[in-house]
Amino acid sequence: MQMFRNEAIKLLAAVLPAAKEDLAGELENPPAPEMGDIAFPCFKLAKTLRKAPTVIAAELKDKLPESKLFARIEAKGPYLNFYCDRALLARTTVESILEQREAYGRLDLGRGKTVVIDFSAPNIAKPFGVGHLRSTVIGNSLYRLYEALGYKCVGINHLGDWGTQFGKLIAAYLRWGVAEKMTADPLQHLYELYVRFHREAEQNPALDDEARAWFKKLEDGDPEATRLWRHFREVSLADFKRIYKILGVEFDAYQGESFYNEMLDETVALVEEMGLAQASEGALVVDLSAEGMPPCLLRKQDGATLYATRDLCAAIYRYNTYQFDKMLYVVGADQALHFRQLFAVLKKMGYSWADRCCHVPFGLIRFQDGKMSTRQGTLVFLEDVLNRATELAAGIIQEKNPGLANKEEVARQVGIGAVIFGDLSNDRIKDIEFDWDKVLDFSGETAPYVQYSHARICSILRKADNWPQEYDASLLTGAEEQAVINLLARFSDQIVRAAETCKPSVIARYVLDVAAAFNTFYHRCPVLQAPPDISRARLALIDAVRQVLVNGLWLLGIAAPEEM
Ligand code: ARG
Repeated sequence: MQMFRNEAIKLLAAVLPAAKEDLAGELENPPAPEMGDIAFPCFKLAKTLRKAPTVIAAELKDKLPESKLFARIEAKGPYLNFYCDRALLARTTVESILEQREAYGRLDLGRGKTVVIDFSAPNIAKPFGVGHLRSTVIGNSLYRLYEALGYKCVGINHLGDWGTQFGKLIAAYLRWGVAEKMTADPLQHLYELYVRFHREAEQNPALDDEARAWFKKLEDGDPEATRLWRHFREVSLADFKRIYKILGVEFDAYQGESFYNEMLDETVALVEEMGLAQASEGALVVDLSAEGMPPCLLRKQDGATLYATRDLCAAIYRYNTYQFDKMLYVVGADQALHFRQLFAVLKKMGYSWADRCCHVPFGLIRFQDGKMSTRQGTLVFLEDVLNRATELAAGIIQEKNPGLANKEEVARQVGIGAVIFGDLSNDRIKDIEFDWDKVLDFSGETAPYVQYSHARICSILRKADNWPQEYDASLLTGAEEQAVINLLARFSDQIVRAAETCKPSVIARYVLDVAAAFNTFYHRCPVLQAPPDISRARLALIDAVRQVLVNGLWLLGIAAPEEM
């Protein structure tokens, strides 16, 4: 599409006094194919030219030089609509995809710019629950989207590895901990201890004092407390990393809350020097009443720092380290106030980059399956979810394609893909009611549907024993072919839109549309049975679809098995 846009800009620049860069920003995508492929709205010109936008559009149409790239250019009300030459669009689109392959869709808009993405961030003392699944998969997709646009991305795991809960855990472990359980399934055991602590503390408040004392010891560097904390952190982290591996998620840095321990005093001192901190009932706060928010707490009465103090310190550290152009915090919507306060404090401190920080909130996820809460406590373990997904996918594959070679691997890709897509296909801000039948439905709006379309194309291409070969994609001017091409040509636009709005759902919708357009095409147009030149062009087209599905699924963090 870019080639056609550049041409439209060139034509417009020849007759208008505007700079090319400004014109580029004006071009729009028409809402429906009847309205052309590129639209130029004339509202803005009305002021400078002192004419009605409709008049300007009509005059422009007459003045524009001829172009081989467009079949026609029409004035429609206040818009000038450009219609691409269909054969040329087909040829350039299919050829670019098959030349660029994995790189198709990528842009270099972000060259030289850095985006820090704070995502996943599970809490050490607690198991990896499904709540953190959302942050993990959304953050991972945003990472890939920005990377595809040429940004340098820094993925940070701000682990919850410090805080009063460690006092509780140490106290609970010393009372009830079982070494064998700790080796066998550490997260499960830590969770049991955590649940038990809360249950017993209700009856026995002395436990809370004990926990507080242990946390104090930990903060003061007591060797026993430190050793236990380190042990909990290590075993948890090993478990988390196993889950990340299953999900195909990586981080550039694990900088958890404890990472900032040594820097906190300095941060608090800085806020005080700036005259922004005040004492309030023995605690230290930044007053945010002018901003219409409750005060931001930096130190408790006992001198302990808080989640907010650590985030303040982390933001400053990250800016000094990465000089980011953008920082995204992929964290649940329930922390919206925390981030508004954090950004407000940064602003008060005079950091101009405070405006580059952005909270990317998301809603809750709930599982309907009774089986998901068999473990003690109400928390749903992510690993159980992933295992269950794989198990269910394996069942479906066993039914549909019992002879499949690498069944286990594919079941994993399909099951995990279904879970990720079940999350990412929703507008992130909405709550999700997770339904196994829905996310695994091979004909629904699901990952398996997209993966299956991909596998189907792979199978057709395997049957065409003479593919790849020479082809002429300009033959692809039929309605179904054009519907597919129209979508393929706009892949980059969707990546830009998804990144700008921080919504992977844009890409999820897009791959569904591509898969649906392919299926309609394939239903109506023979590929292998068509006359040889048409057959070759259609093979090229479906190979292009295959590639775009792979690239699109990759942006979501989902694998595309070749058979399923
Ligand atoms: N560990 C936190 C939680 O589970 C999320 C941390 C998000 N990142 C941050 N910089 N605050 O709620």
